[in-house]
Amino acid sequence: MDGALPGKTLLRALAGEVVWPPPVWLMRQAGRYLPEYRAVRARAGDFIDLCLNPALAAEVTLQPVRRFGLDAAILFSDILILPWALGHGLRFVEGEGPVLPPLRRAADLAALDPARVPNAVAPVLEAIGRVREALDPQTALIGFAGSPFTVACYMVEGGGSKDFAATRAMAYGDPALFAALIDLLTEATIGCLDAQIAAGADVAMLFDSWAGVLSPTLFRRHVIAPTLRIATALRVRHPGVKLIGFPRLAGWMLGPYAQQTGLDAVGMDTATDPAAAARAVPPRIALQGNLDPLALAAGGVVLAEETATVLAAMRGRPFVFNLGHGIVPHTPPEHVADLVALVRAA
Ligand code: CP3
Repeated sequence: MDGALPGKTLLRALAGEVVWPPPVWLMRQAGRYLPEYRAVRARAGDFIDLCLNPALAAEVTLQPVRRFGLDAAILFSDILILPWALGHGLRFVEGEGPVLPPLRRAADLAALDPARVPNAVAPVLEAIGRVREALDPQTALIGFAGSPFTVACYMVEGGGSKDFAATRAMAYGDPALFAALIDLLTEATIGCLDAQIAAGADVAMLFDSWAGVLSPTLFRRHVIAPTLRIATALRVRHPGVKLIGFPRLAGWMLGPYAQQTGLDAVGMDTATDPAAAARAVPPRIALQGNLDPLALAAGGVVLAEETATVLAAMRGRPFVFNLGHGIVPHTPPEHVADLVALVRAA
């Protein structure tokens, strides 16, 4: 390890330094694949109760860091806490995922109440304070939000979808309403991330899981522009804060996204060729990713080979090792320990 250089490895990589072996953390590193998570989850009530219980949310945030010695903790919460905090309903139905009331009309938008958000998310901020106190000073703490577009997807559709057709139909069919929704979510997201950073998060990450369903025109309007607005506002309030974006399945738009949003790092999804991403994204911007979560679940030779491929493509540039999407629930925890050892041996 490069113990001679001071500071959190994640923050150094996000500042554009080539840190090798690279820092490593994993999307959905806290979750159902860990028996200690399932034990806490069983005590908590439903998933939203867990997100809003500062002691338990802090505990599950810390579990994977303790077990695997990862370089970062990511706050245990959810991107859909924001619509919940705005007063738009939210339920998690076992085996079905999130269920929300579909937002289709101006009256649905008018019913959202941004003034509720600060009080509603107070337990999340308290969880950040607790994690910060318990965390080793070398371990970074990542706060996060969904991107306005991805949160809008779940609100308009009323839950998950393969292609978010109703959301895209609204973007074309009622552009003023859709733009007003994106606008409201952009401002609310700035407020949430500002508060998370003030509470002790070192890094803020924007999850744009459905960015890839948009045409380039809509991608520029509803992904790149709001992301730039969020990054600009956060940098005014917190100069030097590190920002990561994850425009999943952005394809050819990954390069424009990286260059035009002012972020410090962009996440590569599973389908991205890391060598192509390294050509599309200037070396001052760190890349993060992108081991296939199914290769992690498979383990063994597959895991070793796929990890080596990602590392080889990223050697010599600022890089953060991660998955190309979240850990899947059937992943054996030992495979995560194997992965961390493989990355640290790079
Ligand atoms: O460890 C971490 O990464 C931090 C916590 C975190 C969760 N969700 C916890 C969670 C983070 C960063 C998220 C982000 C999130 N949530 C995204 C973006 C990333 C992605 O996966 O694309 C999205 C789209 C959501 C919305 C969401 N939350 C869905 C669709 C679901 C149901 C599907 C599922 O995996 O169960 C959730 C629930 C959820 N969020 C769980 C966890 C650990 C499972 C809840 C449980 O314990 O039953």
